[in-house]
Amino acid sequence: MLTELADSRERARAVLPPEIWDYYEAGSGDEVTLGEAEAAWRDFRLRPRVLHDVSRVDLATRLLGTPAASPFVVAPMAFHALAHPDGECATVRGAGDAGCLTVVSTRASRTLEEVGAAATGPWWFQAYLMRDRGLTEALVARAAAAGARAVVLTVDTPYVGRKGRVAGVRIAVPDDEYLINLAQHLVPGAVAREAAEQDPSMTPDTIGRLAAVSGLPVVVKGVLRGDEAARCVEAGATGVVVSTHGGRQLDRVVPSAHALPDVLDGVGGRVPVLVDGGIRSGTDALVALALGADAVLVGRPVLWALAAGGAAGVTATLEALAAHLRHVLALTGATSPADLDPGAVVGR
Ligand code: FNR
Repeated sequence: MLTELADSRERARAVLPPEIWDYYEAGSGDEVTLGEAEAAWRDFRLRPRVLHDVSRVDLATRLLGTPAASPFVVAPMAFHALAHPDGECATVRGAGDAGCLTVVSTRASRTLEEVGAAATGPWWFQAYLMRDRGLTEALVARAAAAGARAVVLTVDTPYVGRKGRVAGVRIAVPDDEYLINLAQHLVPGAVAREAAEQDPSMTPDTIGRLAAVSGLPVVVKGVLRGDEAARCVEAGATGVVVSTHGGRQLDRVVPSAHALPDVLDGVGGRVPVLVDGGIRSGTDALVALALGADAVLVGRPVLWALAAGGAAGVTATLEALAAHLRHVLALTGATSPADLDPGAVVGR
């Protein structure tokens, strides 16, 4: 893990209430997937090129037409107000100041309109299909109106993973924050929480439906197989995120680093492929990009940065990752992510 990230992790641990720290850190089941995520990237070895002019390295990219200063994207995560009073507004500002794209969760603790007004950079909206499908449709339409440039549909959560570490621990998210983006569409109370649960009967037609309602491209998040990725693309997905949900859904799934090549095969270059889970350094990102990913999402390190340093902390973490990626790209003999080829890495 990059030193800057390890430092911010320790500072976050010191300032966060223990139950919130545990909620962020937790994985599901025996935390096998959580435990393997970082090591899976570290298992690859690099094969640098030499005698290439690497005096200039350029990280700038475009994702579905959205410009970004680097391929580091903020992963969608629930309830940023547990880490910082400004919640997602601080996150989008911090990421925007680093030129990075943020994916804002359905479970955001600030309204989409507040997030849109605070954003200094591009953002996408992460959707869950809720049991009350009209709720999801209302949210994606609002996200589009508030400035989101794509919808990220999370598909690995028909039911929420069981996280033993926080079983029975009640995180104090008040109803008005838990449902902050749904409040205007709902009568408050227990029934509202049920309507907002994920719909386990979701099928690929949801992809086209959300694209039609929002007028935005729909990226599918939580895919670990090439055949399933192909199914998503054929149903209209304009991007795919290889993800284990940070080891928080089905435990013992294949690590993202190992699933990525199969998903890239299934997609066959038709749409961009993003990946997340355990990305903690420029070298981890380099491996993902060399294998063929178009961008990497970063989860927990952004929450640590937000807790420890607010918007400026988020900027600093994303800039530290970008600086490290620039450095290791140059040492690998590449002047940009696109200049990498699969021969730059080898599995062990
Ligand atoms: C998440 N993740 C997640 N994903 C999603 O699609 N919607 C969500 O609301 C959340 N919420 C959430 C909360 C917390 C506390 C964590 C840690 C994660 C998963 C997230 O988008 C991403 O896939 C992983 O966090 C990436 O792994 P790393 O970088 O945390 O190892």
